[in-house]
Amino acid sequence: MSTTWFITGASRGLGRELTEQVLARGDRVAATLRTPSQLDDLAAAHGHRLWMRQLDVTDTVRMGRVVEEAFTDHERIDVVVSNAGFGVFGAAEDLTNDQVEQMIATNLTAAIHLARLVVPYLHRQGGGRLIQVSSMGGHIAFPAFSLYHATKWGIEGFFEALAQEVEPFGIHTTLVEPGMIRTSFYEAATRVPVSEPYQGGPADRTPIPLEQMPGSQTRVVAAMIEAALSENPPRRLLLGSDAYRLVTEALTKCKVTIN
Ligand SMILES: NC(=O)c1ccc[n+]([C@@H]2O[C@H](COP(=O)([O-])OP(=O)(O)OC[C@H]3O[C@@H](n4cnc5c(N)ncnc54)[C@H](OP(=O)(O)O)[C@@H]3O)[C@@H](O)[C@H]2O)c1
Repeated sequence: MSTTWFITGASRGLGRELTEQVLARGDRVAATLRTPSQLDDLAAAHGHRLWMRQLDVTDTVRMGRVVEEAFTDHERIDVVVSNAGFGVFGAAEDLTNDQVEQMIATNLTAAIHLARLVVPYLHRQGGGRLIQVSSMGGHIAFPAFSLYHATKWGIEGFFEALAQEVEPFGIHTTLVEPGMIRTSFYEAATRVPVSEPYQGGPADRTPIPLEQMPGSQTRVVAAMIEAALSENPPRRLLLGSDAYRLVTEALTKCKVTIN
């Protein structure tokens, strides 16, 4: 039976790859993106199976309208994928207030609003799947990534609690936690040059070349689809050899004392 997906940030990277893979399966997609013309080719190829609306996820009023229209225009939406996100990298001290606010609004506040908006619809239709794209950076932290980690650790806490609240309604949530994936993410990210006291220090990081990143967006998205459609979706889906190694190392170093 065909599945209907709602996806944010469908223009590029994981969001577009997911849109392409599920359309290729014969599914329907309610795709949201800032510039709908970026999916003109898919609209031409898939016609009525691709529903599109313009949405900047930081516009929470419009998000409410788009969610309402999506659930009205489709018999049901089986899987909601909160994917839109971006990165700002630099020493915490060097970031501007605007960068802090924009990043939290996009990666954290918008994801919380989307979850709160869709839960009542999923509940009314008798259940569904809610996928939040987080990161291995929701478990571990690197210097120069403080703000990104703040958003991903934040959304992980929100979803861990939400999962327990909504499971009785037949709503299953999954936090997808990939390692580094070769998408347009790093090219799109803002890199704030480190100021003098940080030069040569831990925050003064040389970016890893894209071709050296281990994660393939095709495989990450295939794993997301498999998890979303499984009978018992995992609450957390850690993806990639780098994610496995770094998260395991971090947990191993964690000292526990029992009084
Ligand atoms: N790539 C990685 O290594 C990696 C690893 C772990 C987790 N992730 C997470 O994966 C998710 C997708 O990232 P990606 O790797 O696919 O990056 P990407 O190729 O840069 O794609 C990011 C997507 O988010 C959209 N977006 C950003 N801000 C938005 C806003 N305010 N409103 C609506 N859409 C917005 C972009 O739309 P525009 O085209 O309009 O800019 C684009 O569609 C993010 O949540 C990211 O944190 C990525």
